[in-house]
Amino acid sequence: MDTKIYAISGEKSNLSAPDKGIYKPVPLAYHGRHMIEMTNEIVICPMSESDLDQVMAIELASFPNPWTRQHFLDELSSPYAFPLSAFDLGGRLVGFICPMLLLGEGEIMDVAVDPDCRGRGVGRMLVQRVLDDCLGAGAACVFLEVRVSNHAAISLYSEMGFVETGRRRRYYKDGEDALVMERLFTSG
Ligand SMILES: CC(C)(COP(=O)(O)OP(=O)(O)OC[C@H]1O[C@@H](n2cnc3c(N)ncnc32)[C@H](O)[C@@H]1OP(=O)(O)O)[C@@H](O)C(=O)NCCC(=O)NCCS
Repeated sequence: MDTKIYAISGEKSNLSAPDKGIYKPVPLAYHGRHMIEMTNEIVICPMSESDLDQVMAIELASFPNPWTRQHFLDELSSPYAFPLSAFDLGGRLVGFICPMLLLGEGEIMDVAVDPDCRGRGVGRMLVQRVLDDCLGAGAACVFLEVRVSNHAAISLYSEMGFVETGRRRRYYKDGEDALVMERLFTSG
């Protein structure tokens, strides 16, 4: 897919540069709408508190044990997390992703797309953005946990180079197992 990167502020974004860090090491003031990524008709930018009503609506529609609003607020203030929101060109929030980067390892903690907007490449775009940012920040890998029954997500991750590296028994509150999936950036 052809990806173009723009900056609302007029600055040229260097998010793709190999030595580019992720957002959070810079001050919160920067954690606004300065840098956006536009792919076809989707814009990805750092999540802000004003996104949380729409984020919560998607979260509640997507998971049996959804995160709370406070959980997202914690992500927004964590020095290690860099949550991202995806908007359509009408300004509607259509998906989000909550990654973190710690000790050279990226982790995707949460990702969801509005049920009305699934199957149009938004999930792939969000995951790709996190892979790009983590790779750019020097991470060795990105990992995540996913329900063993979540075939859509497992298929998405597999297509994007994640491989199963483990299984956490009864990881979820309802007793379902989680697969651990990892995308390695280094070889050998
Ligand atoms: C998983 C999720 C984020 C995917 O987002 P999406 O925008 O619908 O996914 P995309 O359109 O980018 O699809 C990318 C790939 O995902 C897989 N996929 C997406 N929906 C699928 C489905 N219903 N069945 C099987 N595979 C599916 C496919 O491999 C697809 O590639 P393809 O288009 O070449 O077939 C979305 O289904 C979702 O929000 N689910 C609920 C929340 C959730 O389970 N999050 C993951 C937690 S680990």
